[in-house]
Amino acid sequence: MDVVPLRIGPIDVATPVVLAPMAGITNRAFRRLCREWALGGHPAAPGAGQCTGADAGQDPGRGRRPGLAADAGVFVSEMVTSRALLERNEESLRLITHDPDEHPRSVQLYGVDPDIVGSAVRMLLAEGRADHVDLNFGCPVPKVTRKGGGSALPWKSGLFARVVGSAVRAAEPHGVPVTVKMRKGIDADHLTYLDAGRIAEAEGAAAVALHARTAADYYSGTADWSAVARLKEVVTTVPVLGNGDVWSADDAVRMVAETGCDGVVVGRGCLGRPWLFADLVAGMAGRPERVRPSLGEVLATMRRHVVLLVGYYATDVGAGEAAGPALAEQRACRDIRKHVAWYLKGYVVGHEVRARLALVSSLAEFDEVVAGLDVAQPYPGSPAEGQRGRGGASRRVTLPDGWLDSREIEGSQAVDLAYAELPASGG
Ligand SMILES: Cc1cc2nc3c(=O)[nH]c(=O)nc-3n(C[C@H](O)[C@H](O)[C@H](O)COP(=O)(O)O)c2cc1C
Repeated sequence: MDVVPLRIGPIDVATPVVLAPMAGITNRAFRRLCREWALGGHPAAPGAGQCTGADAGQDPGRGRRPGLAADAGVFVSEMVTSRALLERNEESLRLITHDPDEHPRSVQLYGVDPDIVGSAVRMLLAEGRADHVDLNFGCPVPKVTRKGGGSALPWKSGLFARVVGSAVRAAEPHGVPVTVKMRKGIDADHLTYLDAGRIAEAEGAAAVALHARTAADYYSGTADWSAVARLKEVVTTVPVLGNGDVWSADDAVRMVAETGCDGVVVGRGCLGRPWLFADLVAGMAGRPERVRPSLGEVLATMRRHVVLLVGYYATDVGAGEAAGPALAEQRACRDIRKHVAWYLKGYVVGHEVRARLALVSSLAEFDEVVAGLDVAQPYPGSPAEGQRGRGGASRRVTLPDGWLDSREIEGSQAVDLAYAELPASGG
């Protein structure tokens, strides 16, 4: 099968693979780790990998010319809300920092108000902070859908069109592509993705990505790739990206073959496995090699993850005092805790080491905890692979009163929506 490179607006993406935005995960440190693996070599080994530029990334990467070639895929930031960005919230400004050598600098925005989303895009691009903007319409969490945001929003087709159109028009003068990420709909009886795909295309989106589940599905069951194939039939002038349950390079190749999609978006499959991007690059090029790290390589990658996180948290984003080295290290160690079980899945390390690693508060402590482990322990095979991260049962989607009665905003729904951005996190 021929897997062809992907073009998102003016950006050529050599490998048609996108790191899915994941709140709390795809910060600059994790994106770098994934890029390093994608670009070849073991990034934890001295001199390995082909990324250049600041190691711990003190430079937030502002003011660079838009990159027109994506090195080995697109690596999207976790989402920021448009409102928080406009308010120059410190954590939001940190979330949109990039390494100087990151191409393209991809930022995901979440928003429900066309004017605010447009203003956030204008701010981002006037300050030279991004080469690609992705809009998040996939968030299924009740506190967001209850107000009509996230995956509830495309049901209101007029509003959806206005949000996408506003972002596209704000980005146009900068030549920056805007893409849309969405779910199939609210539930099986209220599917929105085909309409939303057509609308996004008509409003000038440069690509549409479909997480092939409804909001009601949440993360349950398996993603319905046939919906990606349907979307591909309907959206004909811009790339369609498939998302959901790509756990291996073979899954990615199969998704392209089965759906005809132009690229794949990979989320949970790379949690604790940034080397999946090396596999994806090889797999999409039709090559058989796969990374099968020893325990020593996993630990080295984890350690590098912590080091990159220290740099990330120490970044001065100009909106308050930058964290000193000790505080940045503490934050990095706190952040890595959630990754420990994913990294060590399938390896024999014992409960005590896992528990201690999940509590480390400094790099020195990390080194001490892993010191006695058998670094030569080989890759355990299938126990290290497969599902990880969010899962769980389907659920009833909480929506504002009367939301499903009409596809336009009515009555007090506008008031609900005004609050839809405040508590947003993730997709
Ligand atoms: C921890 C976590 C955080 C997420 N945060 C976001 C987000 O910020 N924006 C978004 O569009 N999707 C978010 N998602 C959804 C993913 O981007 C992706 O659509 C979903 O996980 C399905 O892909 P997968 O099966 O490859 O994981 C998140 C998913 C997870 C597991």
